[in-house]
Amino acid sequence: MNIGLLGFGTVGTGVYEIINKRKDFFRSLIGKDLNINKVLVKDTTKDRNINISKDKLIDNPYFILDDPNIDIVIEAIGGTAEAYAYIKHALTTGKHVITANKAVVAKHMKELMDLANKNKKAFLYEASVGGGVPIIKPLKQQVTLNDIEEIKSILNGTSNFILSKMIREDLEFTDALHIAQELGYAEADPTDDIEGYDVRRKLAILSTIAFKREVKEEYIHCRGIRTIKSVDTKVIKELGYTVKLLAKASFKSNKYYLSVEPSLLPDDSFYAKVENANNLISIIGNDIGELKFYGQGAGKFPTANAVVSDVLDILYNNYQNYGIDEGTYKLCNNTDLVKDR
Ligand code: NDP
Ligand code: HSE
Repeated sequence: MNIGLLGFGTVGTGVYEIINKRKDFFRSLIGKDLNINKVLVKDTTKDRNINISKDKLIDNPYFILDDPNIDIVIEAIGGTAEAYAYIKHALTTGKHVITANKAVVAKHMKELMDLANKNKKAFLYEASVGGGVPIIKPLKQQVTLNDIEEIKSILNGTSNFILSKMIREDLEFTDALHIAQELGYAEADPTDDIEGYDVRRKLAILSTIAFKREVKEEYIHCRGIRTIKSVDTKVIKELGYTVKLLAKASFKSNKYYLSVEPSLLPDDSFYAKVENANNLISIIGNDIGELKFYGQGAGKFPTANAVVSDVLDILYNNYQNYGIDEGTYKLCNNTDLVKDR
């Protein structure tokens, strides 16, 4: 089993380190070594402060995508156009694909799942929502047994980190953002984190699986946290409240309600206790009732762990490409989506 790794930043290095750390486990599982043969980076000359032989680092993606000895491609470069092209190419040439890239999954989920299915390969994206929190696999499983009625969540580590620091430590917005960037939580361009677009993509992915309908991210009402100032958080705190960027999706009276926006919550509420880069996802199903998933929503090892859990599913041959019923798959239109105000 050979892996080609696209990207060697926060997530890519985490994946590399976890797989190396668990070398003996993988050898005993598959009877041979699980190798990361090649790693795609932008700049092969960069000083990386990690133990990897220089000849593994390449800057031409097709040395991985067209290599017949590579079985699994892990995409962790981020962005949309190139990542989408590489994922599509890898699935077309008969490789399993794992990605942490919610931008690509939210935009091209159906097409890429169809392609994977056609070629009898896995297309898995556990790390794309919730970072280290397992949510895609459990949601797919619950969807087969339940009608999902509601999703209520905190889905962006960076914005939750910023709001927590502003509320608890009176930090200014830009100072808190700077720390989140240093800790590897934020996207390369943090605009998507603070404007709510990253959350909107994650909510589109979860709702598509939960409601078995394609939920387009651009239809989701979205407001981020960029305009929240320390003068606001001081008042919110004095009133005994906190503020969280909440992502909600529900199905009521034959209508879907989806929204991403900052919300005030009493300081002693369950969601108010979600601090720093943690995420919380609650799903309500008709039989299961409420399930809550909580943990680190961003960062090197939690996210890499989610990626490697997808590798394990491929090795166990235990993966499910579809969270969507082909038969009931319909495109949402604007009249189906009503803002949750
Ligand atoms: P980083 O910016 O830390 O790393 C990106 C890596 O990809 C770098 O190694 C970079 O090369 C390489 N790269 C970028 N663009 C190209 C390109 N066009 N061609 C070749 N190599 C390229 O990103 P992250 O690891 O933080 O994020 C990766 C993905 O994981 C994103 O989709 C992100 O949304 C997702 N994700 C991130 C999480 C996190 O906590 N960071 C959590 C969950 C998901 P070089 O090193 O030479 O610059
Ligand atoms: N930038 C994202 C966040 C990474 O802060 O949640 C995890 O998807």
